Amino acid sequence: MSALAARPGPATMPAGRPTEFAFSADDHRRIADFVYGEAGILMPPGKAQLVYGRLAPRVRACRLTSFADYIAHIDRDAEERQRAIDALTTNHTSFFREAHHFDHFLEHAWPALDGRLADRGRVRIWSAACSSGEEPYTLLMAMCGTQRGVGQRLARSDFRLLATDLSTEILAAAAAGRYAPDTAKTVPEPLRRTWMRDVDHQVEVDPLLRELCAFRKLNLLEDWPMRGTFDAIFCRNVMIYFDEPTKERLQTRLADRLAPGGFLYIGHSERLSPSVAPRFTCVGRTTFQKVAA
Ligand SMILES: C[S@@+](CC[C@H](N)C(=O)[O-])C[C@H]1O[C@@H](n2cnc3c(N)ncnc32)[C@H](O)[C@@H]1O
Repeated sequence: MSALAARPGPATMPAGRPTEFAFSADDHRRIADFVYGEAGILMPPGKAQLVYGRLAPRVRACRLTSFADYIAHIDRDAEERQRAIDALTTNHTSFFREAHHFDHFLEHAWPALDGRLADRGRVRIWSAACSSGEEPYTLLMAMCGTQRGVGQRLARSDFRLLATDLSTEILAAAAAGRYAPDTAKTVPEPLRRTWMRDVDHQVEVDPLLRELCAFRKLNLLEDWPMRGTFDAIFCRNVMIYFDEPTKERLQTRLADRLAPGGFLYIGHSERLSPSVAPRFTCVGRTTFQKVAA
């Protein structure tokens, strides 16, 4: 049976408040089953208002009058299913978020990787769950500093920065690299001057940095098409939405995909599962190095 198949249930309002569209506790449960099945994201009953707030615009856009009808609609319509996922994911991010990770990367990971590139070696970095791109662009700005020549050298070398997310809408924004001016306030001024320009009341990331980022759609729960290992993986502030078994499975797969000695950066409120922790040495705040083996 599809996760969206209708199940009997009382047509009560979970929040007990009048709403534009009928939204019962059973509707919430079916949406929660759907987003858990598709993305591993937990939406317990306490998130009913959030679910309503995020999907009501979609119910309206589809010219429907109830969540029950919307659920039936996304069961049939793959494009609307993706729009529902886009609406339900939390994409909050910022430039230089948890800046200690970029400091660590620059001091402890980048010198050896940069040396390897100079020797015509290969370097692979993955920003997993990159949202609207601030995370991979921050990393590139940190690596290049104010020197465009470093970016040009990266473009000529065997360097790849893969940036992935589940949400197609957010990936389009990431690839466009245009942000509200306030968004750039956390970028140090010399970097902002070097790598961003004002366009149509927005700030735009320099094309050189945009070309250095490969944005791809990837569901962390599904098969990963990439081959080879990564030298560093940033997988930050996505595992908080997952349950323990999902986190453990994901962390195991991330560990498998890291080269020995490679670095894993996770979000400030995230932890390694007990079965995965022995594969790493903790080398900083939410910063782990894969034990060379
Ligand atoms: C809060 S943002 C984190 C962005 C960035 N890593 C940071 O720390 O600022 C979480 C991102 O995870 C993505 N996401 C959620 N579930 C996912 C899944 N199963 N596979 C891939 N990405 C997922 C969401 O679309 C969202 O953009």
